[in-house]
Amino acid sequence: MFATRQISSIAKRAFSTSTSSNAAKVAVLGAAGGIGQPLSLLLKQSSLISHLSLYDIVNTPGVAADLSHINSDSKVTGHVPDNNGLKEALTGCDVVVIPAGVPRKPGMTRDDLFNTNASIVRDLAKACAEHCPKAHILVIANPVNSTVPIVAEVFKKANVFDPKRLFGVTTLDVVRASRFVSEVKKVSTEDAKITVIGGHSGVTIVPLLSQSGHSFTEEEVKALTHRIQFGGDEVVKAKNGTGSATLSMAFAGARFTNSLLEATVAGKKNIVEPTFVKSDIFAKEGVEYFATNVELGPNGVEKIHPVGKVNAYEQGLIDAAVPELKGNIAKGKAFINKA
Ligand code: 2OP
Repeated sequence: MFATRQISSIAKRAFSTSTSSNAAKVAVLGAAGGIGQPLSLLLKQSSLISHLSLYDIVNTPGVAADLSHINSDSKVTGHVPDNNGLKEALTGCDVVVIPAGVPRKPGMTRDDLFNTNASIVRDLAKACAEHCPKAHILVIANPVNSTVPIVAEVFKKANVFDPKRLFGVTTLDVVRASRFVSEVKKVSTEDAKITVIGGHSGVTIVPLLSQSGHSFTEEEVKALTHRIQFGGDEVVKAKNGTGSATLSMAFAGARFTNSLLEATVAGKKNIVEPTFVKSDIFAKEGVEYFATNVELGPNGVEKIHPVGKVNAYEQGLIDAAVPELKGNIAKGKAFINKA
């Protein structure tokens, strides 16, 4: 249901002639990259964005010039590190989306990206804390299970952390789950709405197929669960060394950004998206961040939905996810708090 609705709402916005009077400045950090470019294209269609601010280490002026010819009303600016580019890009931002970083190559896990992407995300987070401390920060850069805590720790150190405004984008997991289930059950994606909880890598991705309203054989459950958990690997393998999911990730990132703008800028109620946020659900087990469905509101996180009813198989998946998540989160926190 979500996926189709998103396509039509993006399409509708493409034809809208004016931005909302109460529209937002949105920055994309890593805007010239594989995810950043299609994500920026999708966001250029939003009437809830007045200024799309694109930052990358190279090529953003070209991407911005190109997008600026699209006849939606948002202004587009491109920034590189020269001339205080990051400060310019971020000042006055309401929302910052971060797809920056390097993608996986075949055989790599998302955690293998930690060494490179952790410092990229840390430095971007420091700039956000300084130049737009109240912005909603949407983290796409992998490993999301660790980069979200990295941003949180940077914001805490700057005394500007608001847990309601920090989100790990896990939307691609529910987008994939919906598509894969629709194929197996031969139903429309509208009728394949799947809750996915946990984190955004391998066994931390926990689909709750029992909550979907469909019935599955044991074989189907195992195959679908594996495909949803490791769907990203299919793309990495097919791209044969040239990267990971960019187009579907951009779609998912735009869907989440649009949902957040609907809740914050347009003031719509009952906007619910899955996302990896600071959550009490498994805090006792030492897991500070956890993805479940989250109701979004004017200040970001409005209400964190509980996990709900799960069967024994899904409980086993949760039991496997929790220690892995705990390690991923601790690794991110330690990266910022090391002596
Ligand atoms: C994926 O799930 C890139 O993490 C992204 O494919």
